[in-house]
This record gives sequence, structure tokens and C-alpha cells, in this order.
Amino acid sequence: MRVIETIAALRKELDAARAAGRTVGFVPTMGFLHDGHAALMRRARAECDAVAASIFVNPLQFGPNEDFGAYPRDLERDSTIASDAGVDLLFTPSVDEMYPDGVPMVTSVHVDIPGVTDVMEGASRPGHFDGVATVVAKLFAIAGPCRAYFGEKDFQQLLVVRRLAADLSLPVEVVGCPTEREADGLARSSRNVYLEGAQRDAATVLSRALHAGAGRLPDLDAARAAMRDTVAAEPLAQIDYADALVLADEVRLLIAARVGRARLIDNLGVPL
Ligand code: PAJ
Repeated sequence: MRVIETIAALRKELDAARAAGRTVGFVPTMGFLHDGHAALMRRARAECDAVAASIFVNPLQFGPNEDFGAYPRDLERDSTIASDAGVDLLFTPSVDEMYPDGVPMVTSVHVDIPGVTDVMEGASRPGHFDGVATVVAKLFAIAGPCRAYFGEKDFQQLLVVRRLAADLSLPVEVVGCPTEREADGLARSSRNVYLEGAQRDAATVLSRALHAGAGRLPDLDAARAAMRDTVAAEPLAQIDYADALVLADEVRLLIAARVGRARLIDNLGVPL
């Protein structure tokens, strides 16, 4: 595996791969990799000839009171995980490489996706999805034609990225991958390191709440109430939202809650 720090160098490598007739798989991440990320990388390895992954903690998608500075980072460990998962090229740009004019948004071109970005995560984290969509648009422009792998763990983000690729005709096939969980149901997340002591067990309340909600479907209000009640019964957790999206072929239950310092999200699809 090669570590690449500049946009020009990654572009050159991936253009050369495509010129040689190889397909490209791309896995964007913010690092502090776990088995959820590794599952995306392994899937890209299985389905594509050349595999690139990026590690970039994107300042644009963090709110002023969020954990950008504290977000966990460990490039050495990440390199081993990515290499073991079959990544060929690990793109680790600096903030300056990605945003040479500083972290702009108000004054520079950015991507603003209406609708899905205004509810749930979008309502709790104003500007978050504009920051995600903007950096993903940049990363797609840098990577070029590819299959890009995203986790269902961040379900609203997956919807945002699909809209981005479709509406801007980007030459990227977005592939959604199932959520990887710990044995007790907790969704794997870089932010799980914030959980201390009893908070770790309490954090299973998110997946427990989703299953309680699923048990009340097709009554959407009862499902929302069951999720809220489950979290309310856990003294170490505070609910942010519990909601249900009716999609073409499923109901997607989504939940966010704070446990100690960690703000955690999870979701579950229930076929219609
Ligand atoms: P990050 O939180 O590092 O996640 C990178 C990718 O891994 C995302 O597609 C996310 O959905 C996926 N992922 C995280 N935990 C997972 C799990 N338990 N199971 C399956 N997939 C999981 O999401 C971001 O970074 C950023 O917003 C990014 C898209 C890179 C833009 O900055």
C-alpha cells in the first residue's frame, strides 16, 4: 500500500489505473478505522481492480461546538488496517491541501442539498450535510470515475451522497454497505472510544430501541414512541431524535442519542 498526500499524485495514479483498463474502488473515511470501515475496503477489494481509500477529518462538516479538534486520529494504526483490508492507495491530504483558501463554505463554492438534509441529523447539526456533500464532491472530482463505498450506518449521509452523484451526474457508482456491529449490537463507530465505563453497555440502548420500534411497525407513531421509551429507561442516555422514514421498499427507523461525551447514531431498515 502507498500513502499519498497530494491531490495531483492520487489523480495521476487513478488515471493511470483506468488507462490500463482497471476499475477503481474508493472508500472515503475520516480515519480512526474500525471493522465497519474495513468491511467497505474489503468489499471494494473484492469488486474492483485498484482500491483507494481516503482519511481526512473534514473541518467543514463539524459545527462550532462539535468534536473536530478532539476527533480521534491514529494514522499508523489506520495504515495497518487499510493495508490488511486490501487498500492499494491511502490518500491522507492535509486541510491545506483540500482547502488552500481556508475553510470557506460561506464565500466559496459548496454543495447544498435540500430536503433530506433538513431533518434528523440535518436539524440537529445545521450545515453538517453541506460540509459532507462538499468534501465528497471534491473527493469524487479527485478520484474520478469509480465505485464509491459508503456505510448504511450513516443512512442519511448515504441518501445525500446518492443525490449528489445523481443530480450532478458525477461518474461515480455509489454502493451502500450494511452496518457492522459489535457482538452486543452496538454499531461500530470511531466515536465509541468516547464511551467510558458503564456508558459502553448503556450505548446498546440505540440498537435496542430500534428493535423495540421495529416491533411496533407498521404503526409509525407507536414505533417512534417505543424508541423514545426505550431510551428514556436508560439513565445514562439522552435522546436527540427517534424517527421513521417511509421509503419505496422499507421503513427506515433512525435514532440519535448522547451517552456521556459521545453523540451516537444508528438505524434499521424494516422491509414493507
Ligand atoms: P467516517 O465516519 O469515517 O465513515 C466513513 C465510512 O464508513 C462512511 O461511509 C460510514 O457510513 C462508514 N461506516 C462507519 N461506521 C460503519 C459501520 N459500523 N458499518 C458500516 N459502515 C460504517 O462518514 C464519514 O466518515 C464522513 O462523513 C465522510 C463520508 C468521509 C466525509 O467526510
